Amino acid sequence: MNKSRTRSNRSETTVILGVETSCDETALALIEVRGAEMKVLAALVHSQADLHSAYGGVYPALAKREHGRNLVPLLHKLLSKASSRTRKSSYSPAVNEIIESFRAEVGPQNPELFESFANADFLKAPAPRVDAIAVTEGPGLEPALWVGINFARMLGALWNAPVMPIDHMEGHIIGSLLPADIVDGAWRRLAGAPMPSIALLISGGHTELVRVDDIGKYEIIGATRDDAVGEAFDKAARLLSLPYPGGPHLAELARQAADEGVEPLELPRPMIGSGDLDFSFAGLKTAVLYAAGKAPRSGDGGLEERWRKAAARGFEEAVRDVLAAKLEKALEKTGARSIIAGGGVSANRILCDEFQGIAREHDIPIFLPSKHVSGDNALMIAAAGALHFDCLAKHEKTSLRAHGTKKLGSPARLI
Ligand code: KG4
Ligand code: ZN
Repeated sequence: MNKSRTRSNRSETTVILGVETSCDETALALIEVRGAEMKVLAALVHSQADLHSAYGGVYPALAKREHGRNLVPLLHKLLSKASSRTRKSSYSPAVNEIIESFRAEVGPQNPELFESFANADFLKAPAPRVDAIAVTEGPGLEPALWVGINFARMLGALWNAPVMPIDHMEGHIIGSLLPADIVDGAWRRLAGAPMPSIALLISGGHTELVRVDDIGKYEIIGATRDDAVGEAFDKAARLLSLPYPGGPHLAELARQAADEGVEPLELPRPMIGSGDLDFSFAGLKTAVLYAAGKAPRSGDGGLEERWRKAAARGFEEAVRDVLAAKLEKALEKTGARSIIAGGGVSANRILCDEFQGIAREHDIPIFLPSKHVSGDNALMIAAAGALHFDCLAKHEKTSLRAHGTKKLGSPARLI
């Protein structure tokens, strides 16, 4: 690795590529970093949700194959979008030797990725200036994570850029601190959340309360014992015959219920008074299942429309109440000075309104992700990479691998 190249660039600006493939979104982002400021050169997300909807959830082998097919075309798009804003590197890689050095390892594991990479047009163009690559190492679906990691490793070798492993859940925390207007391409700073902060991370795979003492210093203080909130939303939505991913559809049905004055279905609030900060959502989905068994039917045998609306509203309110109670408890236990909400489910308006109300009551600021970064994306991964860029020497000593069940903590190599 050519250290002098990295060092000389660090005195001016640093260009970081973010790579995210932990679930069913293939995402890439290119950012430029100058001290505490960053600007977005380009950011793209390719969702596979439509493909997975036929299976009613994310199908890992399909996700892996699609990431393999999508990454190189997405990179082409990203580089052409960013081309007017990026400088070219004078570095010319030994393309063929580098590709060949990965053939035996990546070829059999990720054939779609390897083939498209080996034949990619960007290999013929001058290398773009990319000083480091930040890639999600976990948590997530391991076969999907490996595609992103192998892609990042090949690019890193090709562009002579170090590769930094990033925790997806840290990405969601950082995503919520990105200013909404960061996508307009101007220099921006991350919002400064007063510490300690409580991060409530709610996504399709995770439901966690995290004590944040600083960027990079995290402690999980509460987590789900079974289903994640997003997973529960998706399962309940399926019971209501809504398409995958069901969260936004269920929320829309609940909104219609509220507008039309349809009363919410009475549902349990699992573990709301358990005294600890853990969650359980599997029982809530089961309660919807039992209630659906006794629910009124319409002429075609499906669930009656008014009942579906009542169930959607009842479900959303039950989730809201449990999350609110646990968030309150976490604030009480830690004396946190701010709230950070993140993850796909934090796009939910009813939940956000509730969290904002709690922040107001406690007179502390709350940081919510803007629309383009609430779901999975690579901008949050690149931004997390930017914050850890100073620890690059430590990253370079670590071996890159997928950690499907990785837990957000304070890994020594990041601090
Ligand atoms: O963070 P994310 O994009 O992917 C994971 O890392 O899991 O979260 C996806 C989850 C899905 O379960 C989806 O149904 C849920 O977020 N979601 C919502 C809403 N928008 C997305 N759930 C409830 N209400 C919403 N508006
Ligand atoms: Zn996520």
